[in-house]
Amino acid sequence: MSTRIELDPSRTGSQAQSLEGTLRRLVVGQDEAVEQIVNVYQMYLAGLHAPNRPIGSFLFLGPTGTGKTRAVEATAEGLVGQGKIVKVDCAEFQHSHEIAKLVGSPPGYLGHRETHALLSQEALNSCHSASVKVSFVLFDEIEKASDALWNLLLGILDKAVLTTGDNRRVNFSQSMIFMTSNLGAAGVQSILQPKLGFQPRLIGCDEARTGGVSDRIVKTSVKAARRKFTPEFWNRLDKVVVFRPLAQAQLRRIFDLELSFVQQRILQAGGGDRSFGFSVSDAAKNMLLEQGTAAEYGARHLKRAIERLLVQPLSKLISSQQVRAGDWLIMDVGDSGGPLRFQRGQENIALNSLAQALQEGATSWTQIPKVAAAARGQMQRLSRRI
Ligand SMILES: Nc1ncnc2c1ncn2[C@@H]1O[C@H](COP(=O)(O)OP(=O)(O)O)[C@@H](O)[C@H]1O
Ligand SMILES: [Mg+2]
Repeated sequence: MSTRIELDPSRTGSQAQSLEGTLRRLVVGQDEAVEQIVNVYQMYLAGLHAPNRPIGSFLFLGPTGTGKTRAVEATAEGLVGQGKIVKVDCAEFQHSHEIAKLVGSPPGYLGHRETHALLSQEALNSCHSASVKVSFVLFDEIEKASDALWNLLLGILDKAVLTTGDNRRVNFSQSMIFMTSNLGAAGVQSILQPKLGFQPRLIGCDEARTGGVSDRIVKTSVKAARRKFTPEFWNRLDKVVVFRPLAQAQLRRIFDLELSFVQQRILQAGGGDRSFGFSVSDAAKNMLLEQGTAAEYGARHLKRAIERLLVQPLSKLISSQQVRAGDWLIMDVGDSGGPLRFQRGQENIALNSLAQALQEGATSWTQIPKVAAAARGQMQRLSRRI
């Protein structure tokens, strides 16, 4: 009798693993979305996705600022490069002349030659990388799509084709189609902040991510979407994922991530010759997090707080030449709260190793021991001087 060897279908290949690593780093707290994207990509790599259909079609539901659009950007970033997405903001294509911007106008129509259709084969192909020939197409806020746009979308989901204004066919069989909508977000909000009875109880986002509350959030979102979208559309979707509200611990991780992006921007600005490093004290971090937390806007509010309270003053310091290349900047809170306080240290910190570590995915200073030690030293010396 021949021997049988047990196989393990839970193992993934190295390409899918690398995508998973990127997604887990960039998309915080939305594990289901990460898993579904990786699974679909794995099927594609194995050649087992359905022929004559897009590689996969996803509907992302859930409240604003929870990472729906970010998940698509991160997928493209992990596979073909940053920003390589064909993005359709559905709210912008409500009228028939606007649809022409998507598919081009028929020959003979005014403006026929000038229009560069957003959904053309060239546009899809331009998002490929040398090694990955997949395009990522995002239809954002689909609940705002006009009927004409719906019909286009149904054709793409069903047969992976679209006919352009000048009668050419665009093939979407090498595309992943993502659709986002925050339908049901109001219902989710009322689960989090029930107004019944005399004592309104605020349900923390931590609680919202587990057990019964999480189930209710999923049900509420899916129900709202099912009410709005036709069964015809619903049946063509491969995966529906409900993004969960972000808890404080996740906002903290996103905060670190965003700070590391700010540091990367600084290191890349001006071709690197204006580079400097910075660190943020725990008190300043807490202050920014507090200012940036608003349950109904998810991480969006946090990003805005970072831009307003940290990036804007930083740009002023740069343009008034108060910070120079090679400096190390410490950000802290003043004694009586108020705006962030910026101080410059002279220590020459290895900015090269910082740049390298960020490139390799470090998202917080503690992951860069050499830099962290130097920053700690700086911080101590400065605080002794204050
Ligand atoms: N889960 C998340 N992980 C990482 N960053 C996030 C997450 N959610 C939101 N963000 C940050 O907030 C910004 C807005 O989120 P976005 O994905 O556009 O929200 P939406 O769910 O409304 O599409 C993103 O660009 C990203 O910087
Ligand atoms: Mg979005």
